[in-house]
Amino acid sequence: MSDEKLPKSEISRRKFVTGALGVTAGVGVLSLASVVGALKPAKRPPTAEQKPPAAGDVLVHAGDTNKGQPIKVSELKPDGQMIKAWPKGEVVKDQNDNNLLVLFRYPEGTLKEPTKMEDTAQGIVVYGGICQHLGCQVNLKDDGSLLCPCHSGSYDPKAGGEVIGGPPPRPLPQLPIEIKDDQIVVKSYYVRPRYGESVSDWQANRAEAEKGGA
Ligand code: FES
Repeated sequence: MSDEKLPKSEISRRKFVTGALGVTAGVGVLSLASVVGALKPAKRPPTAEQKPPAAGDVLVHAGDTNKGQPIKVSELKPDGQMIKAWPKGEVVKDQNDNNLLVLFRYPEGTLKEPTKMEDTAQGIVVYGGICQHLGCQVNLKDDGSLLCPCHSGSYDPKAGGEVIGGPPPRPLPQLPIEIKDDQIVVKSYYVRPRYGESVSDWQANRAEAEKGGA
């Protein structure tokens, strides 16, 4: 029956009941949303093996030979070959693919802008080894550039990891390093966000890494 044919008191009662039901339903939806929100697993903090690089971490081999062993500067030829590495703090941080690093040694004085020269040492430069487009691992090409196999993104490791082809939206992130006791040591966090990292997360990780605690 439509409201036009009802007495005024009945119309008011119906409106009250309908409104109350609407409120009840709304509260129900909100309560359900709260419960679902509460059930959603909280973001777990990273384990020691998943934490990002931090100041003081030593770079260790990621390849099959010498895996986990510190990379020694005296063993590196300045030939531009690519060496894959993990950062190692208390433990090797190899349980987060995004921590994979690529390291190059060139003849001193041959690195080019926009490489952050103050974050290199003895011709050694280090980058995050994950493509900035959609997160594949980069590989070294015969011409000395880096190629991402997923969508042919390419980077110049001799020039600050600049994008020289394909879809990557920004250069590879250079990781500042220094040399101590023939080992390569992380000096601070990446100079720009790495793949999948927001600017705010990058800033937070940078602050944390500089305490040596990330
Ligand atoms: S993931 Fe590297 S170019 Fe797309």
